[in-house]
Amino acid sequence: MKVTRRQFLKTAVGAAVAAGMPAFPLRSAFAQPKKAVREFRFSASPARVNLGAGPDFVAWTYNGQVPGPEIRVREGEIIRVVLKNFLPEGTTIHWHGVPVPNIMDGVPVVTQKPVMPGETFVYEFEARPAGSYMYHSHVHYQLDQGLYGPLIIEPARPQGAYDREYTLVLEDWVMRDGGGVADTQRRPPMGMGGMMGGMRRGRGGLASGNGPLLEPVYDGYAVNGRVGPAIRPLEVSKGERVKLRLLNPSSATIYNLRLAGHTLTITHTDGRPIKPIKTDVLRIGMGERYDVEFLADNPGRWLLGAAEQGFGEGQLRIPVHYQGVSRKEAIVPTFHRGLRFASYWDFQALHSSEASASKPADRSYSQQLSGGMHSPYWTINGYVYPDSERLGVRKGERVRIGYWNRSMMSHPMHLHGHFFQVVNPSVPQDRWVLKDTVIVDPMQRIDIEFLADNPGTWFHHCHNLYHMEAGMANVVLYES
Ligand code: C2O
Ligand code: CU
Repeated sequence: MKVTRRQFLKTAVGAAVAAGMPAFPLRSAFAQPKKAVREFRFSASPARVNLGAGPDFVAWTYNGQVPGPEIRVREGEIIRVVLKNFLPEGTTIHWHGVPVPNIMDGVPVVTQKPVMPGETFVYEFEARPAGSYMYHSHVHYQLDQGLYGPLIIEPARPQGAYDREYTLVLEDWVMRDGGGVADTQRRPPMGMGGMMGGMRRGRGGLASGNGPLLEPVYDGYAVNGRVGPAIRPLEVSKGERVKLRLLNPSSATIYNLRLAGHTLTITHTDGRPIKPIKTDVLRIGMGERYDVEFLADNPGRWLLGAAEQGFGEGQLRIPVHYQGVSRKEAIVPTFHRGLRFASYWDFQALHSSEASASKPADRSYSQQLSGGMHSPYWTINGYVYPDSERLGVRKGERVRIGYWNRSMMSHPMHLHGHFFQVVNPSVPQDRWVLKDTVIVDPMQRIDIEFLADNPGTWFHHCHNLYHMEAGMANVVLYES
């Protein structure tokens, strides 16, 4: 999934010309140029896949491939996806991070009826704002069966001074028929006896009956659909500035990444530009996206790898090869004390935005995140979705949500339809960073604020798929 800037410009201009409009339309008050429509056809269907190493197995796919096809368009274009469902059950697609109109948001029951087997549904929305996003099914465990893919919106005018760009989709896999719902080892939640021994539970859920599934023990960590030794090397040349778009559609894995021999500079969080900041280690939770850059100034063979946290994540290693270097062994990153771990508190928005007009919140909600101890359910304020509270707001309000994680696991909380600011008392309000997914760590409190500017019923949940399906979700709702 490598694109050079020249290639992208060529294809983008090509698409505009094919759509019968000038490549660089002039805006005028009288004739608003018609927006170019970029149409994609997606067939959701089971397919036999192989991740380049390990067994063949049946995953659920878009167009027979994992991850799904890359959608790459230019800001302001119209994305149209014609989804045809060949799965044995209903499905939807959610455009994670893109503030689409509510009816295009792809949440079953909340924003649309699931697209049933044999049916077709057309998603259409404007690609805005530019940034790194992803798309995925929002039905049950389908995300962990393979139904996700990258969505990149290029800025209308080229930005950034990089020479080369790669998109890296980070994936956790159960490499058996069915993926995440296969009959495989499951991790008991913290407090229920730890990792030792594991538990074996299949689709039927817990012994008690139809409880939610526990997180599986993954046996493959993939990048762009390839695991372990099959992961494709990133080719770079000395002196280049390389941009990486890191997307984490994994169902239950947070990665701590480090590139041996280099320092990463974070330029965007969840697609939004920040004041560039250097880090040794990049932490990326489920649903998060980071754009980073590095200067290729240290010829050799290196690995961009994940720290091992006890679940096999350390297998995720992406070779970085300098052209013309013939050394065989790649150098592995080491994770030791004293490394710089840039965190939300170090990030500052690059531009002050409308969403950050300095004013106090008009309304606030507190959300206690708990569960995992004595029951298979995960809760917000003690409720399990769909019996949870509804967070009512009014259009135009600035809304604060205060998270308090009272459990021993991290929860990447995601709000649909909006970017929110992460409240950070140590920087001015108009520089609070914009994101759409934020990791709330065990026992931590984090507040967010957003401008209610996109009316609808918006899903709001933990992006650990197994926590979401076990109840950690509710909706934010308002009328125009
Ligand atoms: Cu990517 Cu509601 O999720
Ligand atoms: Cu969670």
